[in-house]
Amino acid sequence: MLSEKMTSALNVQLNKEFYSSYLYLGMSTWCAHTGYNGGASWFMIQYEEERIHALKVYQYMISQGSKINLLPIDHPQMKYSSLLACFEESLKHERLMTSAFNELCDLAIQKKDHTSYAFFQWFLQEQIEEEASVSDIIAKLKLVGDGNGIFMIDTQLGQRQLNIQGTTNADKAM
Ligand code: FEO
Repeated sequence: MLSEKMTSALNVQLNKEFYSSYLYLGMSTWCAHTGYNGGASWFMIQYEEERIHALKVYQYMISQGSKINLLPIDHPQMKYSSLLACFEESLKHERLMTSAFNELCDLAIQKKDHTSYAFFQWFLQEQIEEEASVSDIIAKLKLVGDGNGIFMIDTQLGQRQLNIQGTTNADKAM
């Protein structure tokens, strides 16, 4: 049984994961409207992965007999100045998510909640991989600047496959 404080924090985290998926759906939409079909596909997979993360939190709460509270999901940003700006926003967001999981770990330690602490380790590992993957794409986009190389990067982004577990980024293109 989770503490009231942990239940409330997990409901917020559940909402953050759903917001993440929505944010990436917005990026995918912007890419599709702009002609970056590879980017649209990459962010659509990211949308799916975030949805899987949300459901992972949801299932954990159900398994612990915690009361789920589905909070409203904020409207995501839908306009970006460039593909690079999309990925920079993504990195900024993922860093916030890493901080959120660190805070959840702090709460688990404070509450001596070893079960939740162990559960959060999977997400922290995922955050390391997500930040690394997005940073790598940002570095490549900065290298090509506004040149034609951006279309080659867009094609590579389109090769990313969905990892149905949402577990690792090993199969992420780039
Ligand atoms: Fe579920 Fe990208 O953090």
